[in-house]
Amino acid sequence: MPTLEITDLAGNVTSLEAKSGETLMEALRDNGYDDILAICGGVCSCSSCHCYIEDEWKEKLHAPSEDEMQLVSSTEHFKDSSRLSCQITLTDDMDGMKVTIAQQDY
Ligand code: FES
Repeated sequence: MPTLEITDLAGNVTSLEAKSGETLMEALRDNGYDDILAICGGVCSCSSCHCYIEDEWKEKLHAPSEDEMQLVSSTEHFKDSSRLSCQITLTDDMDGMKVTIAQQDY
């Protein structure tokens, strides 16, 4: 059960106890982080689950797929640390990961 540190759009920092095996998007959506719209439900076709992952955690994540990269890099608020949270499956070794919810294009 990784505990994540989440910064929302208002700059509030909170701890989120997530479940291993769920996606980061599911953890955010199901725990009341309404800044995450997740319009497509997690099938990598909307980019409304856009987050930033701190660099130190990048190596613990699998690399983004071509589809994810294409979609997220086309968003207005894209940065090097951008990921689509629906494409990140949480594992215990992500305990302490810092995630910032990105401004949506919508
Ligand atoms: S929820 Fe649509 S791309 Fe992630």
